[in-house]
Amino acid sequence: MTTRAVHPASNPLRGAVEVPGDKSVSHRALILGALAEGATRIENLAPGADVAATRRCLEALGVRVEAEGETVVVHGRGLEESLAPSPHALDAQNSGTTTRLLMGVLSGQTFEAEITGDDSLRRRPMKRVAEPLRRMGAEIELRDGEYSPVRIRGRRPLHALRYELPVPSAQVKSALLLASLFADEKSSVRDPFGTRDHTERMLSAMTTSEGLSASGDRITFRPTALHGGCSISVPRDVSSASFFLAAAALVEGSDVTLPGVGLNPTRTGFLEIIREMGGRVRASGRNEAEVEPRGTLRARFSPLYGVRVEARRLPALVDEVPVLAVLATQAHGATRIEGAGELRVKESNRLEGVASNLRRMGARAEVQGDALCVEGPTPLRGAEVDTTGDHRLAMAFAVAALVAEGETVLSDARCVEVSYPGFFEDLEKLSS
Ligand code: S3P
Repeated sequence: MTTRAVHPASNPLRGAVEVPGDKSVSHRALILGALAEGATRIENLAPGADVAATRRCLEALGVRVEAEGETVVVHGRGLEESLAPSPHALDAQNSGTTTRLLMGVLSGQTFEAEITGDDSLRRRPMKRVAEPLRRMGAEIELRDGEYSPVRIRGRRPLHALRYELPVPSAQVKSALLLASLFADEKSSVRDPFGTRDHTERMLSAMTTSEGLSASGDRITFRPTALHGGCSISVPRDVSSASFFLAAAALVEGSDVTLPGVGLNPTRTGFLEIIREMGGRVRASGRNEAEVEPRGTLRARFSPLYGVRVEARRLPALVDEVPVLAVLATQAHGATRIEGAGELRVKESNRLEGVASNLRRMGARAEVQGDALCVEGPTPLRGAEVDTTGDHRLAMAFAVAALVAEGETVLSDARCVEVSYPGFFEDLEKLSS
């Protein structure tokens, strides 16, 4: 385990950083590319370990993926031809998205497959995906009825499904939409939570207009071939950008610019909240021409105030809660982030992990039911932070360390490679 020391910022953060490609969009581009007819070109694919795991799983299923300079080309096999059975278990490593989305795809194949992963992944709930996929006709075995490794025996065609999401999970919704590519009739999924819609956008772009339709919060998908020959340009990841937006808001004199960042409204909840807290964050040069909108973000230092985040807003900032809690320690007044129960089943129990590490640094933070409550402002002191190998905790606490007194040591800091391999280098670049 590599620890990493992070010191208080001695200078304002200034300059521009190109954060990596969006992780969620990248997983989907690879998977839909694999199922399309012919080649799909993907620009700016996310460089992290999670997306690399999806790529390797697809390769193990017979999909050819090639790098052409900065572009990745996926040679799709089409929907008619099955993927190829893998002689070994597919290793999703730390990636819930890889596991759940592939469960959807494998439900529609004609062979048996197993998906496994690391210790963190094997503690995450999978029944939420398995249960509706079983209704579609797939045979799925979970360890202890809930966990990975997952064994799947698919069938073709699957039964069409009409389903309402019981949990706010884009991964569940996406798995079902992917499975519905192999169904005998049109399927529909209701998402009353408004979770991220990257799969729907990409499916729309790759099918004819009869494929996908949305009415209110119900998405209907009629099985249709995915055309290849598409070029998918992955925007930069707004979740990765949020660490620098927060750092700029906290460190006096900072002024940071982040070009090409994804501005899909199902993902930009953190931008709204930081502004409501008094943060000076501006988006400019909005480009709506691509499947995923994007623009340049600029963030500057400013005083912050506590805020109440209602549960309905959580899906659009679910991965940003750790860094939002860090911001709240420096804000004037109380911050209450409600309906955050899903954070217990992320790469770690993020609710407890954030609150306990913040307390170690001297903050007033506690979990009340499903709410994370922080009372600010409090001076932070450097501490040993237990990241539990969770990339978002490591990056959030690197930001906290910038405004703490003395050195902060992050355990297992290499976990940032899951989503942002160059994170510490980029942070140093802005600080020097
Ligand atoms: C993701 C959805 C979210 C998010 C995760 C990526 C996706 O998870 O936390 O980092 O790509 O669909 P859930 O769908 O489980 O809430």
